[in-house]
Amino acid sequence: MRLLQPYQLGSLTLKNRVVMAPMTRSRAPEHVAGDLNATYYAQRATAGLIVSEGTQVSELGAGYPWTPGIHTDEQVAGWRTVTDAVHAADGVIFAQLWHVGRMGHPSVHGETPVAPSAIAPGEDIFTPDGMQPIPTPRELSLGEIAGVIEQFRIAAQQAKTAGFDGVEVHGANGYLLDQFLQTGTNKRTDGYGGSVADRARLLLEVVEAVNEVWGADRVGVRLSPGGTFSGMSDDDPVDTFGHAMKALDAYGLAYLHIVETSQTLPPVGLDEVGGPTRLARSVFSGTIITAGEYDRDSAEEAVATEAADLVGFARQYLANPDLPERFRVGADLNEGDQATFYGGGAEGYTDYPTLDEA
Ligand SMILES: Cc1cc2nc3c(=O)[nH]c(=O)nc-3n(C[C@H](O)[C@H](O)[C@H](O)COP(=O)(O)O)c2cc1C
Repeated sequence: MRLLQPYQLGSLTLKNRVVMAPMTRSRAPEHVAGDLNATYYAQRATAGLIVSEGTQVSELGAGYPWTPGIHTDEQVAGWRTVTDAVHAADGVIFAQLWHVGRMGHPSVHGETPVAPSAIAPGEDIFTPDGMQPIPTPRELSLGEIAGVIEQFRIAAQQAKTAGFDGVEVHGANGYLLDQFLQTGTNKRTDGYGGSVADRARLLLEVVEAVNEVWGADRVGVRLSPGGTFSGMSDDDPVDTFGHAMKALDAYGLAYLHIVETSQTLPPVGLDEVGGPTRLARSVFSGTIITAGEYDRDSAEEAVATEAADLVGFARQYLANPDLPERFRVGADLNEGDQATFYGGGAEGYTDYPTLDEA
């Protein structure tokens, strides 16, 4: 299978084209990763590339309980146990740098969440006290936006200290950078809102800051064109994301990571260009990871037809630490248990059996 062949990602040789997609698991007490997380990731070092769960770049960047941050020295030390374990198991791991913007709750950090504009998502969110409505966020000032860029720069440096092999800027799934990109959430009239160039400005400035730390060939970016989760919307996703992808192409990034919206019909416009991954291929000349509801056969087709170079798996990787080997032999897959996706301990986290153990 082409999916199981090695892939040269800049200076990194990936042992296969299967990516463990980023997954928040809310198992880092006090927002610090540790031994349990190290065991979980090392079990999944079978992937060509692991992208860590979103790791917040600041206290206000956290939206959910028990998500590991990367802004304190203690958090860096916690992540070091993870990267050491992954490297000992011959894995490659990037840190997903994350700021949730409006997708947060005061119960996590005691403050009102921030956003490009004061527009509530109109949804409930997981909190330590169960599901609660997300409050209306506070609009970020220009000075605070400069501060956010600085937080990403420092987090990128921290990720280096923590021993990661690179970083992925989380520009997807309705979080802060996506909120700036899309018209439904960004009503600003300054240099960070309005035209597509201005809405993409924060994403690009963050990427430039992170590139300065790592070099662009160790930096990936995740986007979810046309995603409507978390109350997101855009007047013209092809224009918005086409512009952002083209601008990102100029940097020579490690990769662009696209979340497909295959489970539903892509929003108007994106269907005409063949969906998010095809849009990316038409404007971005570097490595493309595609993710979203892939299975063994559709992933093999994606890499065989060069629709994408690498394929991300989230829920199947969660439940199958030896996913590439299962693909190789055509084995059945363990089913993930949704009840243990978020929060808790080892159960539903490090106890999914490999083929050898089954
Ligand atoms: C439990 C869980 C947590 C997730 N957390 C993140 C995250 O932290 N960052 C992110 O970009 N996507 C996150 N996702 C989205 C996945 O990376 C992926 O795009 C999505 O699940 C579709 O892939 P799949 O069909 O292979 O599961 C999460 C998905 C799941 C199931």
